[in-house]
Amino acid sequence: MTKKYIWPIATRFAHVLLILFFSISYILGDFKELLSWHVAFGLALGIVFVFRVIWGFIGPKYSKFSDFNFSLNDLKEYLLNPFGKTKEYIGHNPASSYAIIAMIIVAFLTIITGMLAYGIQENHGVFAFLHNTYYKKMELFKEIHEFLSNLFLAIVVIHVAGALIDKVIKKGDAIDSMISGYKKAKESIRLNVFQKIFSLIWIAASLFSIYYLLFTKNIFLSSHNIKQNYEVLHEEFYSECASCHMIYPPNLLPKRSWEVMMKNLENHFGDDASIDKATNISILNFLKQNSAEYSTSQASLGILKSLKDTNKTIIAISKTPYWKAKHKDIDDKIFKSKKVVSKANCKACHKDIEYGLLENNLIKTPKVE
Ligand code: HEC
Ligand code: HEC
Repeated sequence: MTKKYIWPIATRFAHVLLILFFSISYILGDFKELLSWHVAFGLALGIVFVFRVIWGFIGPKYSKFSDFNFSLNDLKEYLLNPFGKTKEYIGHNPASSYAIIAMIIVAFLTIITGMLAYGIQENHGVFAFLHNTYYKKMELFKEIHEFLSNLFLAIVVIHVAGALIDKVIKKGDAIDSMISGYKKAKESIRLNVFQKIFSLIWIAASLFSIYYLLFTKNIFLSSHNIKQNYEVLHEEFYSECASCHMIYPPNLLPKRSWEVMMKNLENHFGDDASIDKATNISILNFLKQNSAEYSTSQASLGILKSLKDTNKTIIAISKTPYWKAKHKDIDDKIFKSKKVVSKANCKACHKDIEYGLLENNLIKTPKVE
């Protein structure tokens, strides 16, 4: 059989984008500061897949789902003879047919749960409206999302292994064909005008989505966390408690901690920060009304949880187990550097923390030589 053109540009280009977008998104998932990039590439992956699904119905032969081979007998024969001779398949062999369907389903589930986690945990994006109701379940949604993304990776690994076996052992041309478009076949495909236009829109939309998600203000990534102006909310808290250091958002410590701290202001981390009684009561009330117990933020929840098992009252945010866990990878040299000076100087790395915000994309650790 001679080589014929069976994979149109759109199918191959989308294939490359899927590889790229998935890899980037998966890797960036580990970097807090780049969470918005992780989300953007994950959503862009979803867009490529949506077009791929439509293509599965309106595309040319071989790309169409109706051309996939879902015969269980063929699948069995194919899988049981990884190194031997099996039937020849022009388009998708049974294993890759199943792998593609599995990837599409798992990808959509991963993306949906990712969007839910982003809304519920971070108060960002289209599901941010669920944040106030479900914030206590934030870990659960994140874990489901992570499980699904690893399941997706597992299918990818199997799919790639299959392709490599095809190339190295069976001397097949599946991998080459996904690059060149040509494979041993009886006839070439030809796209009709409608399919050509669809291909163009597909490629353009996939590329544009990255620009749109990353560089414009959009509903898929936008934050619903609101800046707090403590100067307006409580003037005395602002003037008294920000005279020696930055302003610490009240929601980063539980009530109990604020009570103990406010009782001992004459010996406050080695300083005398005492104030008159009336001001003290007023500030304490403000701190208690806005303490971690009344916040839906990830940090408040994490701090509260991490303090649940300790009997002693911790009054420094930077001494809470949650804070320590989140900052354990940061070199002590950085905290002692001129730009940061102290662990307590949160604003050196968290822009807008003095407005009660702890946005991932605002984290910036200063470089030290
Ligand atoms: C006289 C100066 C002074 C005043 C006034 C003051 N503080 Fe402090 N505060 C300090 C010092 C010094 C530290 C220790 C900072 C460090 O570890 O680098 C500290 C630490 C803290 C910390 C712990 C930060 C962390 O997580 O490590 C909190 C919370 C805090 N102060 C809250 C307050 C509040 C609330 C008020 C107002 C009632 C206040 N401070 C007023 C000097 C002051
Ligand atoms: C030297 C820079 C630096 C300083 C100072 C610092 N942080 Fe951080 N913080 C980071 C980095 C980097 C991360 C992200 C760590 C990660 O990848 O999980 C982080 C993560 C966090 C998180 C977790 C965010 C999340 O979404 O899970 C909280 C909460 C936090 N910091 C609060 C504070 C507070 C409060 C202070 C001050 C008492 C502080 N940080 C001081 C660098 C810093």
